Amino acid sequence: MLRIGALVSGGGTNLQAVMNAIDSGLIPDAEISIVISNKKNAFALERATNAGIENVVIQRKNFSKSEDFDRALADELRSRNVELILLAGFMSILGPSFFEHYENRVMNIHPALIPAFSGPGYYGLKVHEAVLEYGCKISGASVHFVTPEVDAGPLILQKAVVVESGDTAEILQKRIMEEAEWQIYPEAVRLFALGKLRVDGHQVIIKK
Ligand code: GRF
Repeated sequence: MLRIGALVSGGGTNLQAVMNAIDSGLIPDAEISIVISNKKNAFALERATNAGIENVVIQRKNFSKSEDFDRALADELRSRNVELILLAGFMSILGPSFFEHYENRVMNIHPALIPAFSGPGYYGLKVHEAVLEYGCKISGASVHFVTPEVDAGPLILQKAVVVESGDTAEILQKRIMEEAEWQIYPEAVRLFALGKLRVDGHQVIIKK
């Protein structure tokens, strides 16, 4: 049984997509063992409660140093023997020490085609606003392993989504979630659960 921990801050629709894929059997032999939010009112917490998944709030403001916050998160995950960590709309940057025990075991979903519109400052609607301002005709989403450098870890899956004339950032965000994020995040977790992902340098090889 693959034990998964999810870090969230907001609505939790990607978390929901992964939970649904576990329930339907698309992701075999896996469970979400713990959901941790750094925001008290994140709707993702309600989704976890509704699914009977243990969930806790750990807030950065309760720690004097960010390393201590990172350690509290890691301790919580380690106490549940989590083997895969999903950042699912988690709006906090984790420091290098967090990854020591979890190399190539932390995934993130980013709402653009990395390396475009990614890195520090590109989060939430800001990503889609920048895509529209640039005049891109396509955007999309990327799932990657997380390294200490923001949005720069090895890419696992990407999916393109057409930008349509008249799109607002909100409309584009919604289309990218529906057409890309909610598909490729569960699929990346499925591949991990099946042992089909091998990291070679900056490349992820998907075994047949
Ligand atoms: C998504 O757009 C994801 O790509 C980004 O943050 C958003 C989270 O949405 N990292 P949700 O909390 O999964 O609904």
